[in-house]
Amino acid sequence: MTTVFQPGNQYPVLLGPLAETFPQWMAQRKPSGVLLLTDSNTRQHCLPAFLQASGLSADTPVVEIPSGETHKHLATCTAIWEHMLAAQLDRHALVINLGGGVIGDMGGFCAATWKRGVDFVQVPTTLLSMTDAAIGGKLGIDFQQVKNTIGVFQNPAAVFVDPVFLKTLSERELRSGFAEVIKHALIGSAELWEMIRHFDPTQLEACSYEDWHHILRLSIDVKVQVVTEDPHEKGIRMLLNYGHTIGHALESYFLETEHPLTHGEAIAIGMLTESWIQHRRMAQPLPEEWVALLLRIFPKQAIPTGIVSEIWQTMLQDKKNKAGSVRMALPKNRQLNMEVLEPLESEVQEALDAYNASTQLF
Ligand SMILES: NC(=O)c1ccc[n+]([C@@H]2O[C@H](COP(=O)([O-])OP(=O)(O)OC[C@H]3O[C@@H](n4cnc5c(N)ncnc54)[C@H](O)[C@@H]3O)[C@@H](O)[C@H]2O)c1
Repeated sequence: MTTVFQPGNQYPVLLGPLAETFPQWMAQRKPSGVLLLTDSNTRQHCLPAFLQASGLSADTPVVEIPSGETHKHLATCTAIWEHMLAAQLDRHALVINLGGGVIGDMGGFCAATWKRGVDFVQVPTTLLSMTDAAIGGKLGIDFQQVKNTIGVFQNPAAVFVDPVFLKTLSERELRSGFAEVIKHALIGSAELWEMIRHFDPTQLEACSYEDWHHILRLSIDVKVQVVTEDPHEKGIRMLLNYGHTIGHALESYFLETEHPLTHGEAIAIGMLTESWIQHRRMAQPLPEEWVALLLRIFPKQAIPTGIVSEIWQTMLQDKKNKAGSVRMALPKNRQLNMEVLEPLESEVQEALDAYNASTQLF
């Protein structure tokens, strides 16, 4: 039951059991050496199953880095490059990124810059990275609290998506990834929306392998369509940033507190507040069903009043900006049509106030 996607005819995204995809691919590739990158959680929960399914030997060199967004920075890259040096990785070697979006973004970045580029594959182990981060060749790290500021575009040699890894993912991380699934449904898939519109957190945990395969097939399809049309984010790919303008700024803010948000939690608030601004400008209420789904999966977080000027400063660093003005990309319908808005700081304040008092969202 492997489903194959080919973003821009550049590389395969193989959705299905690893044992059916990885060994054959490796047999053709024959790299000069292999380095496996994990974090502390994926080494424990995913590495044994990966080694068994991939057919790689148990003595394959494994690098382990601490888990989490707070380690997605230059110092961790230095540690990874030191391992590459010690392993004498040449340009015909292969880096395998076994992990979530942090491992994929950072391991891909280290590989793409090692000796001006060594091949890497993504083996995503979170829902978020399976549906989004592992596909599309955007790689990078955070810098001075601004997310993904240093990075490159470089496609992986292949992406192997096996929902089996979702079994050990925490409920909170499963919900985090579901934010990007909801995003894909809202921007580009009526079929996916129909499938998930009544979901609640208990259903997420109850999903079988086949359910995830179905959801991922539809969700990955949206991502692949977009990156095929616009690989370097000159146009429609900006739509994948729906919810990420306010969301990234909130994620950066909360990262510095004792209660960091997951990426998906921040993006869910970003989708609600950005859409609130869009609909208010059109003098229309936000669709109740969107709000209901997002608030069911992501119970409200209290956003401290008075942080908007700080959030706004982070938004001014957003990569979509042009000539000093903040830009947000929003869906016009579920057929990959985009509207770009330039919000005012006062509108962001009003949107966060409306979110805090959720009844005003409708
Ligand atoms: N490149 C892109 O296009 C793109 C798109 C979206 C998001 N991102 C990036 O992705 C990152 C978020 O990704 P994420 O949510 O996967 O975060 P993550 O990589 O930090 O993973 C979340 C947590 O789950 C753990 N984990 C991973 N797989 C597991 C498993 N199978 N079982 C148990 N624990 C497991 C990790 O160790 C970590 O603690 C952010 O840095 C974001 O900027 C990139």
